Amino acid sequence: KDYHDILIESHGKVGLITLNRPKALNALSSHLFHEINSALEKYDEDPNISTIVITGNERAFAAGADIKEMVGKSFADVYKTAFLGHWGKINDIRKPVIAAVNGFALGGGCELAMSCDIIYAGEKAVFGQPEIKLGIIPGAGGTQRLVRAIGKSKAMEIVLSGRNFTAKEAEQWGLVSKVLPVDKVLDEAIKLGQEIASLSQPSIQAAKESINRAFELSLKEGCHFERKLFYSLFALKDKEEGIDAFVKKRDPKWTDE
Ligand code: HXC
Repeated sequence: KDYHDILIESHGKVGLITLNRPKALNALSSHLFHEINSALEKYDEDPNISTIVITGNERAFAAGADIKEMVGKSFADVYKTAFLGHWGKINDIRKPVIAAVNGFALGGGCELAMSCDIIYAGEKAVFGQPEIKLGIIPGAGGTQRLVRAIGKSKAMEIVLSGRNFTAKEAEQWGLVSKVLPVDKVLDEAIKLGQEIASLSQPSIQAAKESINRAFELSLKEGCHFERKLFYSLFALKDKEEGIDAFVKKRDPKWTDE
């Protein structure tokens, strides 16, 4: 399928989505976001793809939702059409999604990165939720995911002041798992995707599902969910394969079954 605002290419079992509206700093128009969703869904269904990487360019991952698209829109306009409805789709993707962030990840761009499972950032990446400076607030999970990732005081400071924060701060606060030289971020994200893709995929998907439950459930219910899922993996051939390989000191051969 042809896309206008994204590029897609696979690297082995890693499906790459590159946001490609450079003149607008990859501002996430509805059109661009529909293309992201379409590519995510295609990769999620593709048996040859196991993990997904989303990236932008060196100047911008994405500088936010498209501000120009919001000009003149009324409450009725955005409410009736569920203006941001499509931003939730990424949460339904079962395969791991890694964000490789360089440059600006602001507003909706920061929210898109936070909707991914893992964030790698370049040394010059700039994160922020500047919506308050536009007289609005984050609308794609920013107030929720940021507080879960970095705690209340820092999330309040960032969202209420609208000030940006650096890749280093993001890493210290636990939002980002690694800071890398600018020209290494994408390569390392793809490498991580390949490493994850080399393991048994049913257990990878179960692990993602279980970690995400941590955001929804009490500790007791979350551990209960995890235990059930753990038991269910004993139905897999790959569980026998992985454990037999360890015992016999050989490499496992996964069949994803
Ligand atoms: C539309 C955008 C844009 C955006 C940049 N551009 N960000 N267009 N929506 N979010 C456009 C500019 O209008 C400009 O186009 C071109 O990209 C280059 O941007 P400049 O501002 O000239 O670049 P620079 O001076 O380097 O400044 C970079 C910047 C600044 C600091 C990132 O562009 C900026 O503040 N952008 C807005 C950031 C922001 O407020 N994001 C939150 C959006 S609200 P032209 O045609 O003029 O050359 C949001 C709500 C989320 O995300 C709700 C839930 C999804």
